[in-house]
Amino acid sequence: MDLKNTLAELESKLTEALKQTEKLEKLQDIKAEYLGKKAELSLLMRHMKDLSAEERPVFGQTINAAKARFTELIELRREALEAQQLEARLHAEKIDVTLPGPNFRLGRPHVLNRIIMEIEDLFIGMGYTIKEGPEIESDEYNFEKLNLPKDHPARDMQDSFFITEDRLLRTHTSPVQVRTMLEQGGSQPVKIICPGKVYRRDEDDATHSHQFMQIEGLVVDTDTTMADLKGTLLTVARAMFGEHRNIRLRPSYFPFTEPSVEVDVTCFKCNGNGCGMCKHTGYIEILGAGMVNDFVLSASGYDPSIYQGFAFGMGVERIAMLKYGIDDIRHFYTNDIRFLKQFST
Ligand code: PHE
Repeated sequence: MDLKNTLAELESKLTEALKQTEKLEKLQDIKAEYLGKKAELSLLMRHMKDLSAEERPVFGQTINAAKARFTELIELRREALEAQQLEARLHAEKIDVTLPGPNFRLGRPHVLNRIIMEIEDLFIGMGYTIKEGPEIESDEYNFEKLNLPKDHPARDMQDSFFITEDRLLRTHTSPVQVRTMLEQGGSQPVKIICPGKVYRRDEDDATHSHQFMQIEGLVVDTDTTMADLKGTLLTVARAMFGEHRNIRLRPSYFPFTEPSVEVDVTCFKCNGNGCGMCKHTGYIEILGAGMVNDFVLSASGYDPSIYQGFAFGMGVERIAMLKYGIDDIRHFYTNDIRFLKQFST
């Protein structure tokens, strides 16, 4: 038998078989056919016994070398087929990165939240802390500690949703003042703003809503004066309505402040000259404020002979309506996307 020839023949058969194979899975069969136990190559080993002692090692080495060669041929084909497959997959899964992507719409904060964020930023810049409180409040915090005892006629200004005898949906954010002062224990200065929802029993119409938002401000310290209040409100008015605005304080009444004022800003439509918007007065009312009533200070643990403070409360909807010329408060709550989309920058 001519071993060399036999092996050469086998190799060319294997090479041909590999060439014909396009499928990776088939390589396994070819491997079994040419290198498995019953493969011709393995069967050749049987001839060993007919050989002399000198011939055997040469014979064995030749067969082993052929095995290694066959294995290599199969592996080379495997690599080639794998590369081909990868190429085909990459081609099939090719994406065009220059295609325009699907359109998506960017959300934006609700206009009321924008106003709140703007005001919060302004006050954080002046060293205030933001405080929140519960929307279900006790009569004590919502009214009594704010100098509005049970039979006080000023309660009429804030017609309320009572849940039980002494629990209600808060009618203003002022109870957060009380909560904060009590927390501070009567000896620490207070400098807070409190944004949040409030509720009043009103018939909903263009200018009234049974639920709306307020931002309350409170400063308590040993040397807080009305001049500080005025300066603070002027800063707010200018930040919200323009640099050249002025404010005017008119005497007013709130049970929790004494003296109390209503604050007007020069009309930003006519610059104070008088127009339809300001009913020809040159001014527009924006908020209520005052020096914290001694009763309120003592009810929350502060000694009014040492501490004074100022407080103010503004309606977020009202500020937004004035600022953007919105004529109906209900627009804020009806989620009409065409309305909301206008406030995008
Ligand atoms: N809490 C008052 C209201 O809702 C507003 C206000 C707050 C007035 C603080 C003065 C001082 O009517």
